[in-house]
Amino acid sequence: MTQKKQAGILGLGAYLPERILTNADLEKMVDTSDEWIRTRTGIRERRIAEKGTATSDLAVKASLEAIQNSGLKPSDLDLIILATVTPDMIFPSTACILQNKIGATCPAFDLSAACSGFTYGLALAEGLIRSETYKHILVVGAEVISGFINWKDRSTCVLFGDGAGAAVIGETHDGHGILATYMGSDGSQARLLQIPAGGSAIPPSISSIETGLHYVQMDGAEVFKSAVRTMGDAIQEITKRAHLTIQGIDCLIPHQANLRILNAVSDRTKIPIEKIFVNLDRYGNMSAASTIVALYEAVKEGKIKKGSTVVMVAFGSGLTWAACALRW
Ligand code: ACO
Repeated sequence: MTQKKQAGILGLGAYLPERILTNADLEKMVDTSDEWIRTRTGIRERRIAEKGTATSDLAVKASLEAIQNSGLKPSDLDLIILATVTPDMIFPSTACILQNKIGATCPAFDLSAACSGFTYGLALAEGLIRSETYKHILVVGAEVISGFINWKDRSTCVLFGDGAGAAVIGETHDGHGILATYMGSDGSQARLLQIPAGGSAIPPSISSIETGLHYVQMDGAEVFKSAVRTMGDAIQEITKRAHLTIQGIDCLIPHQANLRILNAVSDRTKIPIEKIFVNLDRYGNMSAASTIVALYEAVKEGKIKKGSTVVMVAFGSGLTWAACALRW
């Protein structure tokens, strides 16, 4: 029997907008304090895209870096999967807009799984490489979520930031690459975290705008509990699927929503907090861009080296959750 191909990451890229919004800046905008934000979330600052910047603009910069780092050209891509909850527009897909902007010619589509979107995209790309359907797949997580935040609502506006990350997935060898993937969803919890209007259920109207239905709405306490449970369970499941032990994980790359969530995940899974990569203090929650930007930085900072065992884990609106184990 022929061995199935192994898929893995050939190149990484990331882009963060230059403008920094600090907790001190937020103190001037809503009734909050640096102390409250730091102790409740761990966030110190976040990046905010300039007005007029679209999600595809951030995605272009991250994607071109990932393609260059993989030693390929845009014309070598066979597929683009772009994960976002803040697309440039309802249609066409942001992936198609990205395809044109980077000069690729392959099929392209968006994937909607909120903060789990990039990890969902990895799982999909892995299957398509292993089945030999495609050779080189660009997976992108990109968000300009600042345009969907009510900057007068202190319970949500302190949490989020803009950014993009990208990875080129292709065939890898000698046991390096993706070891296992896992995805989950629970639509019964959809209302915990949503932007209710702008789609077919509540099309844009003067009333939908006046009642703030185009902004992120969240039941923070319930999302917090679900995040700890689903990420903890996803780590157990991916460890089993990849035949790893918890002790064998060198670096955990989690979705970056809240430092208290990561401490609780560490307690629940017994993964020491020192092995959990954290950059939410600098970027806040970048939804689909969060895990891929964290992976990019962990590699850059030398926290992930050749041979490291890495687990990526995410949760988000849907609810959705996902995990991916990799040997670097
Ligand atoms: N500054 C000051 N006070 C605040 C702020 C703020 N920015 N926000 C809320 N408060 C107040 C509340 O009004 C409340 O006051 P009250 O007691 O007088 O009513 C008090 O602080 C406590 O509020 P809680 O909501 O109970 O605070 P909590 O400790 O639960 O922290 C938080 C809130 C940070 C949102 C937390 O619940 C959380 O992190 N939840 C998870 C959110 C998350 O991870 N979302 C990611 C998913 S994103 C995606 O998938 C797209």
